Amino acid sequence: PAPGWSIAADVVVVGSGVAGLTAALRCQAAGLRTVVVTKARLDDGSTRWAQGGIAAALGEGDTPEQHLDDTLVAGVGLCDEEAVRILVTEGPGAVRRLIETGAQFDESSEGRLELTREGGHHRRRIAHAGGDATGAEISRALVEAVRARGVRTVENALVLDLLTDAEGHTAGVTLHVMGEGQHDGVGAVHAPAVVLATGGMGQVFSATTNPSVSTGDGVALALRAGAEVSDLEFVQFHPTVLFLGADAEGQQPLVSEAVRGEGAHLVDADGVRFMLGRHELAELAPRDIVAKGIMRRMQEQDAEHMFLDARHFGAEMWEHRFPTILAACRAHGIDPVTSPIPVAPAAHYASGGVRTDSRGRTTVPGLYACGEVACTGVHGANRLASNSLLEGLVYAERIAADIAASHAENGLLTRVPRPLPYPETPEHPLLTAEARFTIQRIMTDGAGVLRSAGSLAKAADQLQRLHTDARDALAENGKTAEPGVDTWEATNLLCVARVLVAAARLREETRGCHWREDRPERDNTTWRRHIVVRLNPDRS
Ligand code: SIN
Repeated sequence: PAPGWSIAADVVVVGSGVAGLTAALRCQAAGLRTVVVTKARLDDGSTRWAQGGIAAALGEGDTPEQHLDDTLVAGVGLCDEEAVRILVTEGPGAVRRLIETGAQFDESSEGRLELTREGGHHRRRIAHAGGDATGAEISRALVEAVRARGVRTVENALVLDLLTDAEGHTAGVTLHVMGEGQHDGVGAVHAPAVVLATGGMGQVFSATTNPSVSTGDGVALALRAGAEVSDLEFVQFHPTVLFLGADAEGQQPLVSEAVRGEGAHLVDADGVRFMLGRHELAELAPRDIVAKGIMRRMQEQDAEHMFLDARHFGAEMWEHRFPTILAACRAHGIDPVTSPIPVAPAAHYASGGVRTDSRGRTTVPGLYACGEVACTGVHGANRLASNSLLEGLVYAERIAADIAASHAENGLLTRVPRPLPYPETPEHPLLTAEARFTIQRIMTDGAGVLRSAGSLAKAADQLQRLHTDARDALAENGKTAEPGVDTWEATNLLCVARVLVAAARLREETRGCHWREDRPERDNTTWRRHIVVRLNPDRS
């Protein structure tokens, strides 16, 4: 069936984290008819779960240049220096504007922003809120602002595909909406500018810090639309995720880097600080190095996890500075005031995504991307801690400025969308909801924190089989599964998983968060470059 309803707008923002809501607020302020569509409720994405904070050179003696240096070192030779320069120079202003929008950060008694440290930062430059509830505060402030300023929103709206006109220019998106009255079922927002801000894809693995909505929908949409996607092999595994058992599945509680920033130690079961001597910053080395340090010690000791010891903080500091983490640990029967916290790495952040230029433009005209779904070039092979909220802010502002400038120059032309095949095609057959768990197991076993040619080849075969089975079922029965959020999500997860594994197989080296056991060295001769993927957009 064709979409049953449609909305006309100048710009549609897909996603409602820091990037999406910032873009929407700026577009609306520029006088553009703006619609935000989001898969669950406005505050249901990853932003709300961010703990540590937002990095910017706001402290005395700190400079954007030093922030740039730390970001480039963490990115292991693959950052786009110009993109990083934009991030660190525009970052402090963007944080101040976020404060003007209503976000309240923690301050000292003299009214100065309190700044902490995290892995890879040589300075205290991470602003935080509510101790360790930074994302929740940012989300609260932005959602309130969006409501107060009357930005039009459609919740429970899963984005399906990009609409384009006869010239291949963006013309809007199709959506599957549930339980929203007049906008129920499959519909469309017609707009000549689409901002993808759908977040990450952590749910492609069994255990992740990401909420259940992080299923790579934006990257999958972009791939189906023929946009370029880059660096998908660089999945960041957060070193310190509360260990709830080797078989734990779904979203896992994070134990922020800021806990190490305030002086917690990583120790093994014998109480030995194994990061000492591995890196000059020890526990505060860049994230990939700490994750590898933990994994190596786990292998050496045949252990399922390591420990984070912050008993010396005492009860008062735990309660004041890290209330969210304290509550999560206690809810699982661990009291960090009296016991070390069991931790192990888990999937956390997609450093790659939909490739954009410095204005957030993708390779499809009219399609923009910002936040975790995007690959602006600032993260390279390994994102520096707490640069993600900042990237969402800075590049969302740039996107809004670019759309507003196009509008001022030419007016935004109405685009007539070409009809799209719906709901499935032989190239992208719908998967059953259960396939999600099969994909997660395949990816965790074959393309997780430790990879090899063998493990990746096996994962590629298993994913291909899932795809072939669904395609054959479609050919035989004309249908594979009932269209719905869970079946679309499984379909998107398979789409991004296949590309991720293909990129990880190609990159025959170890760099940043891509760790190949069979190729343990960095290869600057061959691999100081990016893997860019583009699928054929012809879905007929
Ligand atoms: C954390 O609080 O450790 C997460 C920060 C980040 O992912 O940037």
